[in-house]
Amino acid sequence: MEEQKQTALVTGASSGMGRETAIRLVEKGFQVIAAARRIDRLNELADQFQGITPKQVDLSQPEDTEAFCRYISDLPAPVSVLINNAGYSIRGALEDVSMEAIKRLFEVNLFALIRVTQACLPGMRNLRKGTIVNLSSIVGKFTFPGSGVYAATKYAVEGITDALRMELAPFGIRVVAIRPGPIATEFNEVGNKLTGDLMARTDPDYKPIYQTAGASTGKMFAGLSIPGPDLIADLILEAVLSDAPKAVYSAGPLSEDFLGKRANLDDDAFHRFMMEKFGLMGLQV
Ligand SMILES: NC(=O)c1ccc[n+]([C@@H]2O[C@H](COP(=O)([O-])OP(=O)(O)OC[C@H]3O[C@@H](n4cnc5c(N)ncnc54)[C@H](OP(=O)(O)O)[C@@H]3O)[C@@H](O)[C@H]2O)c1
Repeated sequence: MEEQKQTALVTGASSGMGRETAIRLVEKGFQVIAAARRIDRLNELADQFQGITPKQVDLSQPEDTEAFCRYISDLPAPVSVLINNAGYSIRGALEDVSMEAIKRLFEVNLFALIRVTQACLPGMRNLRKGTIVNLSSIVGKFTFPGSGVYAATKYAVEGITDALRMELAPFGIRVVAIRPGPIATEFNEVGNKLTGDLMARTDPDYKPIYQTAGASTGKMFAGLSIPGPDLIADLILEAVLSDAPKAVYSAGPLSEDFLGKRANLDDDAFHRFMMEKFGLMGLQV
C-alpha cells in the first residue's frame, strides 16, 4: 500500500525563503500548504509544482489568522512539518516607529506564529511526531541600532522556540530556530517601503545618529556578497530531513562575526563592540 504523504505548511510561501522551502518540500514528497496574502503568486507555484495547495491568509489580521487556524484544524491529514516563515521588518529609532506599526509587526512576526503553531500542535501530538521550524534572524540574539522593534519580534520568537523545544521533546516533536544573516529576497524592499523616509520625518536630534550608523552600515555591507534564499531553504530542508536536527541553524553574511561576538563577550563588552562597529562610540548630539 502506498504510504500517505506527510503534510507540510509553509507560511510566507509567496516569495523568498518560504517559496524555496515549499518547492524543496514538495520535491521531497510532502503535500505542501503554501500560505501568504498574494494568492496569484501561490497559484502560480501550485501550477508549477504538483502537491502544493495555495492558501490565502493575511496574518496581520487576527480574524483571518483564526479562520486559517480552523482550516488547519479541519485538515484530513494533520500538519507534521510546520515552517513558520512569514515575516517582515520595519526600521527606525524607537521614537520614530508608530505603535500601530509596532503592533502590526508583532501580529505577523510573533502572534500569528504562536497561533498557527497552536493550531498545528494537536495533530502533531496525535502523531507523536513533527518538526517545527521558526524563522528567527541573527537579530534574534542582538540588535543593530534602528532595528530594535524588528529584533524584539525575533528575540520573542527565540524565547517561544526554546520553550517549545523542551515542552514538545517528550512527544517526539522537534523544534528548530533558523538565524539567517542578510539574504537577497524581497525582505529589504518591503522593509524600505514600510519604513518610509526616516530622515524626512525624524527629529533633527536623530539625524547624526542615523547618518553615522548608516555610513558604518554602508561600509560593513560594501563588498559583501549577499546570498539568495536557496542557502536558507537548504538548511531548513536539512533540519526537516535530519534524524536529529540541531536546535539552531545560523548562516549568511555577518552571522559568524556578530553571533560569535555576542556569544563570547559579556553585555558591556558587546555594547562597546556594537558602538564601535556603528561609529556611535563617543558621539555627542
Ligand atoms: N531576508 C533577510 O535578510 C532575512 C534575514 C533574517 C531573517 N529573515 C526572516 O526570514 C523570513 C522570510 O523572509 P524573506 O527574506 O524570505 O522575505 P520575503 O521574500 O519578503 O518573504 C516574506 C514572506 O512573508 C509573507 N508575509 C508578509 N506579511 C504577511 C502577512 N501579513 N500575512 C501573510 N504572509 C505575510 C510574504 O507574503 P505576502 O506578501 O504574499 O503576504 C512573503 O511570502 C521572515 O520571517 C524574515 O523576518 C529574513
